Amino acid sequence: MCGIVGYVGKQRAVSIIIEGLKRLEYRGYDSAGVCVLQGGQLDVAKKAGRVEVLAKEAARHRFNGTTGIGHTRWATHGGVTDANAHPHVSSDGKFALIHNGVIENYSQMKQFLVGKGYTFASETDTEVLCNLIAYHYAKEPVGQNGGSRFVECVRKSLQHVEGTYGIVVLGVDFPGEMVAARKASPLILGVGDGEYIIASDASALVSRTQNVVYLKDGEIVHITPAAFSITTLDQEDVSPVVDRITWSVADADMGDYAHFMEKEIFEQPQALENTMRGRFSEDGSTANFGGLNITAAELRQIDRFLFCACGTAWHACLVTEHLIERFARIPCEVDYASEFRYRNTPLHSNTLFFVISQSGETIDTLAALREAKRKGYKALAINNVVGSTIAREADGGIYQHVGPEIGVASTKAFTSQLMVGAMVALYVARLRDMSFSDGVQYVKALKGAPALVRKALEQAPHIRAIAKRFAGYHDMLFLGRLSLFPLALEGALKLKEISYIHAEGYPAAEMKHGPIALISEKCPSVFFAPAGEIFPKIVSSMQEIKARKGPVIAIITEGCELPPGLADEVITIPDCHEAVLPMVAAIPIQLLSYYIAVERGCDVDKPRNLAKSVTVE
Ligand code: AGP
Ligand code: GLU
Repeated sequence: MCGIVGYVGKQRAVSIIIEGLKRLEYRGYDSAGVCVLQGGQLDVAKKAGRVEVLAKEAARHRFNGTTGIGHTRWATHGGVTDANAHPHVSSDGKFALIHNGVIENYSQMKQFLVGKGYTFASETDTEVLCNLIAYHYAKEPVGQNGGSRFVECVRKSLQHVEGTYGIVVLGVDFPGEMVAARKASPLILGVGDGEYIIASDASALVSRTQNVVYLKDGEIVHITPAAFSITTLDQEDVSPVVDRITWSVADADMGDYAHFMEKEIFEQPQALENTMRGRFSEDGSTANFGGLNITAAELRQIDRFLFCACGTAWHACLVTEHLIERFARIPCEVDYASEFRYRNTPLHSNTLFFVISQSGETIDTLAALREAKRKGYKALAINNVVGSTIAREADGGIYQHVGPEIGVASTKAFTSQLMVGAMVALYVARLRDMSFSDGVQYVKALKGAPALVRKALEQAPHIRAIAKRFAGYHDMLFLGRLSLFPLALEGALKLKEISYIHAEGYPAAEMKHGPIALISEKCPSVFFAPAGEIFPKIVSSMQEIKARKGPVIAIITEGCELPPGLADEVITIPDCHEAVLPMVAAIPIQLLSYYIAVERGCDVDKPRNLAKSVTVE
């Protein structure tokens, strides 16, 4: 959830750490801190608030050391205060530590440590861990087998921990060294030129190196200026694999846009191209996936799909469900990953399990994947971040290839997930009853999606004007049917997330079973009303809203005509194939929530209380 950066090298650690923290701020941002090991001391600056506040505070310290750690916090235990910000230093001043995750048994450990004379300056769960390391070190400061005492003390402490962690530790008696470890929280080691950077997310280190080692759960890395070595919690040696990040720092820059969210909305035509590239058969009638690790024969045996995800990715699952059932005629279920992990859902032997996750680090989605694997099912993943934990633990998968998504509100990753879902539906349908010519039509439609999305983006100035008119409302409904019902949910989520307006998504016809009670001139409704058999039914639902004085914003496809005066505002999007419609329909709701949030003066890329990837339960 939080951001972690650690540096060992020849440069001033503080500048590299603060630059890294700025790039990580989107992961969680209620407070920030830095600790530099210099002059035989662990010198700490930390502040509640954004990284800029920390940068000012840090400027007052004389941070010249070349070894340091930094953190942006997303509080789980203890309020947002300077004292609770990380790094935490053990009460004997020997160790400093940053932590992402939750130490579930911290209160027992705290009691034990208080009994041993250690004191606590914060209310966090994290602080017990640095005191525990100090306790083990004080007991036996010199290594027994020539191994590093530093690593041994961290290892011993972690053996007592229940919960999740990504930690980086500095020790006063170990200048130029750093120890880091992970369990369920991401950590990546950047191997630079005469320097090492450890971070919770590649964006914090990619400006210095593209060579990285993805740490696995249960691994501990020991870094010195000259080398690094990895062992497991059980003291096994690990041979590290150095991977190369395929994107560069320029991909994580905002360019001329006002916000990352705006940039990512407008990047969608290109993002969809990237998702599709090289993934259609030569005869142009189906999709191909390199890394799925399941044969066509095995796929033909599948009689049920189960998709799990959270938030926006869960909405992408719902659209995929619609397309798989519609085109491949295979039953498909969608579950919240957070529910699936505890529900003990019965799975049939021919069920194919999928998760969708942009970050590949969402803890609930990871736990759902692990649960399905534990039960012996093949578990596949659709995800964007290459090398993420979910990507590595899945039995096979499909990368989205849309580059880093920095805005907390997911946009380009969402439409790309819709694209992958549409391609999976096509692939499975072609293994069953879909004809060659229907397959060719479908592929043509998908290939045309980027141009249609580009056309929908041309509505931006019109949508901006609508946003000005509706930015002052407190409630809004989003209504859609069939494959656009999930888009109604997504529209409501986007608006809530970034503008703090209360919004709900419903299947349009369900509106009269309850939500209609909310309708008045103060509660506008955004309707998806695409051409098709169901169009007249949607128009009737609009009439019911209008009859109760509810303002209506209608998103229609080209060629549809609404009765005069029915909608207060109309947004027209291109008419298209059923598999492409959700991608095109996403554009107006993304733009509407973006412009409304801007109009209301909200911090679009860093909405309150949210973090980009939720790595705590
Ligand atoms: C999207 O706008 C949200 N911020 C959030 O719902 C997100 O989609 C969810 O947390 C899942 O993230 P993931 O795709 O990285 O797993
Ligand atoms: N549990 C720790 C805290 O509340 C770490 C939270 C985080 O991951 O940012 O300080």
